[in-house]
Amino acid sequence: MSDATTPAMISVQNLGRSYPTPAGEVPALRGVTFDIPVGSFAALAGRSGSGKTTLLNCIGALDLPTSGRVQIGGDEITTLSEAERTRLRRTRISFIFQTFGLLPMLSAAENVGLPLRLERRTTAERQSRVRHLLELVGLSDHADQRPAELSGGQQQRVAIARALANTPQLLIADEPTGQLDAENGEAILDLLRTIVRTEGTTALISTHDPRVQAGADVTLRLADGVLQNGRGLV
Ligand SMILES: Nc1ncnc2c1ncn2[C@@H]1O[C@H](COP(=O)(O)OP(=O)(O)O)[C@@H](O)[C@H]1O
Ligand SMILES: [Mg+2]
Repeated sequence: MSDATTPAMISVQNLGRSYPTPAGEVPALRGVTFDIPVGSFAALAGRSGSGKTTLLNCIGALDLPTSGRVQIGGDEITTLSEAERTRLRRTRISFIFQTFGLLPMLSAAENVGLPLRLERRTTAERQSRVRHLLELVGLSDHADQRPAELSGGQQQRVAIARALANTPQLLIADEPTGQLDAENGEAILDLLRTIVRTEGTTALISTHDPRVQAGADVTLRLADGVLQNGRGLV
């Protein structure tokens, strides 16, 4: 799929990440290599402890690998300074977490608008964008509610709207349905798929959920930090 006409959104080459522990280095990723084309809905599968979160954190510039390279839209990110990586996370890459990560004292609308505040957008611009995003995730009627007043599925929708606020090129979701029941999980996956199709975003989603893999353009499988199907598949 990845060829001269389809640029890679994510390009990972020979990636390694070890964690130092009192018992010595624990290798969490070992020689991981793959490309994900722009506009893909990609799933990352693997048992607990297989290295999914470590890989997503390295791709999303939250963590630095021990060896190897990560390129996002052709730009090498593993050699960036801390400040440059922060900038990348505010402008080009967004995260969605299993535990939603919303600020409890802020309303849904305020949570969604937070990245726009950090970017110092005008109030008018922010309000208009927040309104559009809440509509996109089906929460227009819940703008003023705080996270505790929303269901788990609704909280994850707020987190998705917030992740989209700065129109990222890449959406990374670490087990986004892990805390949701089947019905709400399915609705969140449908929403993420719709966003990839309509907004042109690329998404990489780690999961235990076979339904994510069924609807994905590509599925990467990790086992003990080794990719089972990277090279040649994408
Ligand atoms: N901060 C850490 N310190 C030491 N070992 C870690 C740390 N984070 C993860 N690990 C280890 O790295 C491996 C991969 O973990 P992780 O990336 O969280 O996998 P997954 O998300 O697939 O459950 C596991 O063996 C885990 O115990
Ligand atoms: Mg994990």
